[in-house]
Amino acid sequence: MAIIYHASTREFHLYNRRISYIMQVMENGQLGSLYFGKKLADRQGLRGLGRTPSGVRPHAVFVREGSFLSLNHVPREYPSYGTGDFHDPAFVIEQENGSSVSNFTYVSHKIYAGKRELDGLPATYTESDTEADTLEVLLEDAVSGVRLILRYTIFSALPALARSAEFVNAGTCPVTLKRAMSMSVNLPDADFDMLYLCGAWGRERYPTVRRLAPGIQSIGSMRGISSAEYNPFLLFKRPGADEFAGEVYACSLIYSGNFLMQAEMDPFGLTRVLAGIHPNGFSWRLQPGERFQTPEAVLVYSREGLNGMSQAFHRLYGRRLARGPWRDRERPIVINNWESTGFAFDEKSILALAETARKLGVECFVLDDGWFGGRNSDRAGLGDWTANRKKLPDGIGGLSRKINAMGMKFGLWVEPEMVNPDSNLYRAHPDWILHVPERSISPSRHQYVLDFSRPEVVDAVYEMLHTLLKDADISYLKWDMNRYLTECYSVTKQPWEQGKVFHSYILGVYRLCKKLLADFPALLLESCASGGARFDPGMLAYAPQAWCSDDTDAVERLKIQYGTSLAYPVSSISAHVSAVPNQQVGRVTPLQTRAEVAMFGVFGYELDFNALTVEERQEIAGQISFVKEHRKLLEYGTFWRLLSPFGGGEAAWMTVSESGEEAIAAYYCILNRPNGEAKRLKLKGLNPDRSYIVDGDRGTVCPGDVLMEFGLPIRPEPSHDFSSRLFYLHAAADAGDDFKK
Ligand code: DGJ
Repeated sequence: MAIIYHASTREFHLYNRRISYIMQVMENGQLGSLYFGKKLADRQGLRGLGRTPSGVRPHAVFVREGSFLSLNHVPREYPSYGTGDFHDPAFVIEQENGSSVSNFTYVSHKIYAGKRELDGLPATYTESDTEADTLEVLLEDAVSGVRLILRYTIFSALPALARSAEFVNAGTCPVTLKRAMSMSVNLPDADFDMLYLCGAWGRERYPTVRRLAPGIQSIGSMRGISSAEYNPFLLFKRPGADEFAGEVYACSLIYSGNFLMQAEMDPFGLTRVLAGIHPNGFSWRLQPGERFQTPEAVLVYSREGLNGMSQAFHRLYGRRLARGPWRDRERPIVINNWESTGFAFDEKSILALAETARKLGVECFVLDDGWFGGRNSDRAGLGDWTANRKKLPDGIGGLSRKINAMGMKFGLWVEPEMVNPDSNLYRAHPDWILHVPERSISPSRHQYVLDFSRPEVVDAVYEMLHTLLKDADISYLKWDMNRYLTECYSVTKQPWEQGKVFHSYILGVYRLCKKLLADFPALLLESCASGGARFDPGMLAYAPQAWCSDDTDAVERLKIQYGTSLAYPVSSISAHVSAVPNQQVGRVTPLQTRAEVAMFGVFGYELDFNALTVEERQEIAGQISFVKEHRKLLEYGTFWRLLSPFGGGEAAWMTVSESGEEAIAAYYCILNRPNGEAKRLKLKGLNPDRSYIVDGDRGTVCPGDVLMEFGLPIRPEPSHDFSSRLFYLHAAADAGDDFKK
């Protein structure tokens, strides 16, 4: 890995064994893009290969008289609008005279080993300086005096690059950022399909593919959080690329608030990809001396298809975005009471459920919504984070100690960003919510959003949560968020500061997470937003796992977990076995299938064990002991998607240990076919030179190359809808010729 600056040609080359990223300082002093893709040998003089337009360009606008440099035709690193480039820009900076014209030119750069933290924002990191190198390019707009720092970090072991931009008002007048994207990148040509994760509550993150076409195509959120509708993740793949082969360019934004990601293809084949904070509702005034840091964006380039791309994100986000002691630790198997009790529980029923859970091997009891204030429905109580003594006479402290005494950890649900109008907190501080004076607040789940852009509001919530965590034995906190932001206005801010509210709100959320984790470093945070409406890399930096969806039906979860795995590691995907008929879709699936889907996530249960038969409880005890035995592999192995649940009546995926010695593969028959063909599943990631004992198929011993090229027979063959087969493979002591049918 290296970052080279060729002074004579003013070219930057960032590369590792797999990728190269090349830029140049152009003749007008601005930073131009040259190449991003498979690794190239380092050499200088590549600027000659740049997209200098040839032939007649009737509408071209040139940078000066006598020059043929037309900014509309040449890709730039962080493009502006107003001087001849007519595409959507990376930034808009309005100056005192009302103009947004700027000209940021190269001043200097520095290259250093490792990576710096981003002020107030979650970001990828390194644990040693050998893991990455960083380039910071300083540019300046001479007229306004504003400076711009573009940061690029290349990771040594991954085909990944992290980018962000920082504005510093080193001038003498205020300026206002109207748009400040995290990055702009150019695809090499226009021959791509665009894939993004789209959905809604209960069906989050379905992969959606469309052909890249001239014009702007975009995804984003203006809901205040990243949302269930679109995820801050976007990729471009060659039309023939699939899960296993082909070129993929992917971009992910480490951010949980309003975002915009778009591709703009022009009639000349230039395709500009932008990612960052959504400009709608955003404006940020910078007084002289003030700075603004954008969130970080991550680019991954893969020639190994979608799985290769995902595996790079899994490693980076699982190991160098998630933090804290839980990052690499096997996660506790939980029972969460929400789907079995809703708001209707008391200490006795909770302890009865916990006792059975303990006997089955469950490790943590998570008490969900309804334990606090006047919370007997979703109409009251949010904001009052003290126990409802009618339900829990000994409070959370007493209950947590009783659960701990049983030998289980205790987890608790909170929704820190919200308040019900029917709550003591709201009665005491009606002005603490986001609202526009004299205007009504659009209702949603009978709750209002606390104004987390105000430090004093965040501090007050921090005090309440701190007291709660200090006074009880709480190992796990499920942090929920159940409404989108509307009337996003902060009464303590000046009119010209209102464009800061959405972003400051999310910074407040990050600050609260960080503060609580600093006080309680052993705490395991699980993020949640009506299921998966804030499942994004920003939250992942604090909460290493997230409740993936309120839809726990096994068939629906196959799709949701499949889509989620495109960008996020299995160790971040919280997945529970729930009762049938399923609450969301009414489907009845076997207990085995429900568990064998949830096992490819952070495993747990969401049902009433005491309402099950003895046989069902025995089956559950078996599932739990299997997960405990193979949890490291399930949560942290290399994950491969094999068959898409969106393709038809079946699905499959697998995980392989780092050494290649162990693997678990799962095949799901969604809709059975009579008299079907004998099924074989082509496995991936095994050692072709080793033989594997296949548990789940009568202990067959089979060479790795055969399993990958010919396939693993699916036996016994599925005989009904919604069935699953799980295969545990481990390398045989002696390799080779013991292959038997
Ligand atoms: C939405 C979450 O996704 C559920 O799991 C549950 O915690 C409810 N909120 C509680 O209100």
